[in-house]
Amino acid sequence: MKFFIDTASLTQIQEAKDLGILDGVTTNPSLMAKEGISGDSNILNHYRLICDIVDGDVSAEVIATDFEGMVEEGRRLAGLAPNIVVKVPMIKEGIKAISYFTEHGIRTNCTLVFSAAQAILAAKAGATYLSPFVGRVDDINWDGMGLIREIAEIYAIQGYDTEILAASIRNSRHIVEAAKAGADVVTCPLSAIYGMLSHPLTDLGLEKFLADHRKANA
Ligand code: G3P
Repeated sequence: MKFFIDTASLTQIQEAKDLGILDGVTTNPSLMAKEGISGDSNILNHYRLICDIVDGDVSAEVIATDFEGMVEEGRRLAGLAPNIVVKVPMIKEGIKAISYFTEHGIRTNCTLVFSAAQAILAAKAGATYLSPFVGRVDDINWDGMGLIREIAEIYAIQGYDTEILAASIRNSRHIVEAAKAGADVVTCPLSAIYGMLSHPLTDLGLEKFLADHRKANA
């Protein structure tokens, strides 16, 4: 399973990269706004800066919601760097745009996916990645990880190439469950990646090893 970081923060992207486990980045308009990035040229420049840090795929989301607008914006984003993947919302115009991008060799990430039916449509349109939002499904008391399992089963049966990118991941348990459910990629905040590191027995064990070493070498 590949690890993407879900942020537009250059500091956090660099921090995750320094761990040596980073395969890519996903962003969205909310994450860009959180970093205070606004205005077309600043947004494009910020994507360039992210691509300077990361070799893996970087998802850059279109703001337009009409086909022509998505195509124009997507082409501009894809032209920034070879590792840009154009992120397109799961709406009617979005599916048309994904089909267009597929035909023209531009890679896509279909976002805001909440059902298996949407997942089938995105795969048919040739999306490179599919982003089902696990945490937001859980938020409405449905089964976010069950959705990943269902899509993984369908994609395996049908032989679809679209990669399942588990998104809206909130904690390290989500990451473990996404791995078991058959996600190809998980995109998560840095806090969830760091959450994977911690176990009280690791801390206690290390403390004891170092104390014993100090005693023996006093
Ligand atoms: O990857 C999608 C993500 O940014 C949404 O996460 O936590 O806002 O539901 P969240």
